[in-house]
Amino acid sequence: MEISIFGAGYVGLVTGACLAELGNNVVCCDIDRNKIERLKNGEIPFFEPGLKNLINKNIKKKKISFTLNLEEAVLAKEVIFIAVGTPQKKNGEVNLSYVKKVAKEIGKNLKKYAIIINKSTVPVGTGNLVRNIIKKEYNGSFDIASNPEFLREGSAVFDFMNPERIIIGTDSTESKKIIKDLYEPFSCPVVNTKIETAEMIKYASNAFLAAKISFINEIANVCERVGANVDEVAYAMGLDSRIGNKFLDAGIGYGGSCFPKDVRALHNIALNNNYKFKLLKAVVRVNNDQRLLLAEKTERLLGDLKNKKICVWGISFKPNTDDTRESAAIDIINLLEKKGGKINAYDPKVDYEKLRRDNKFKAVNFYSNKYDALKNCQALIIATEWDEFKNADLRKIKKLLQKPNIIDGRNIYNPDKMKKIGFNYLSVGRL
Ligand code: UGA
Repeated sequence: MEISIFGAGYVGLVTGACLAELGNNVVCCDIDRNKIERLKNGEIPFFEPGLKNLINKNIKKKKISFTLNLEEAVLAKEVIFIAVGTPQKKNGEVNLSYVKKVAKEIGKNLKKYAIIINKSTVPVGTGNLVRNIIKKEYNGSFDIASNPEFLREGSAVFDFMNPERIIIGTDSTESKKIIKDLYEPFSCPVVNTKIETAEMIKYASNAFLAAKISFINEIANVCERVGANVDEVAYAMGLDSRIGNKFLDAGIGYGGSCFPKDVRALHNIALNNNYKFKLLKAVVRVNNDQRLLLAEKTERLLGDLKNKKICVWGISFKPNTDDTRESAAIDIINLLEKKGGKINAYDPKVDYEKLRRDNKFKAVNFYSNKYDALKNCQALIIATEWDEFKNADLRKIKKLLQKPNIIDGRNIYNPDKMKKIGFNYLSVGRL
């Protein structure tokens, strides 16, 4: 199929690269000149396992191309995806200005029937908004659909190629058939719905997963008080297929560009429709508080943090990504600095220069080697569960730290083993 994708961000690029890999002709369009130039040379603006190879392979096969030219991106395409950013406004509502702008451009440049599919996470009702904007610019026939994505950063290419479900939200039989054909290589269930329902499925899924995380984090906090072990509780809960074993890892809460934004957005969508989503308010509160617990635990081991040197391993919001948006690590470091702590930090992928430019911290010292970052520190905090931390040399850590204190926000080490080596070790929901 002839496909264009508006928005060469995270969702747009993964979708474009995978659809090209499946044999379609894809053009990705963005207004960022620098980004498009880099993409033409096969350079990916962020780290995502497997994506660079896939894009370079399909550039060579002439299956994917990149353009700034909106007219070219719309011309003779059967399927047009909208995958632009939907950032959050200060009041928690979704900012739809990019979606609206793209819809207008598509309308201006349409010459024949096409399906315009929304992949961005947008409030219920946006499909119709897009339809009305295009209608004002173009009086031929076209269809609108919602086809939410469920990709996780760090495993997005795998997730796209191995979907557990495909949601097609559209009112038109013709577009339903075309979208079904597009996903024909996959054997997972396809759920056909109205546009509004598809838009809601995305929010409901992310909000439910966020609630699962806040739930297990509160269980962890109770476990600490009653002497139970949250890992074992979660494992046993997960054996019940009604509960499932995923997203039950207790820790320092969820972050990233999706859960925090989507939970708040769904809360607002409900409020704008005269409904108070009480549970979601609690989910957010638990998540915010959970981050702060790590600083309290650090104080428990070190006392007053003023001028104490502390090392933090992990700044990205989760492993296998360089994304630090709404990362719990950022809030934790800020809190430690506020309490007078002097921070050394290490992350395998995060762009330190960007953090400096964005003024994320007061005076963090960044390291390119995790062991160097430990020198003269009185404690190590684990904020992200990168594999290289799980496999780190524990005895070396002990030797390099000034005092053998570890506060593990992701439960990556075994408490008994840590105590045996001689660490003062605090984790989440385990004694
Ligand atoms: C999430 C969803 O998982 C995807 O299905 C969805 O497509 C995506 O949002 C989106 O809306 O675009 P992502 O934000 O990449 O994906 O990351 P997750 O793997 O879901 O993790 C989110 C956060 O939850 C991370 O900070 C992670 O550390 C935390 N988490 C996850 C836990 O604290 N415990 C868990 O058991 C699982």
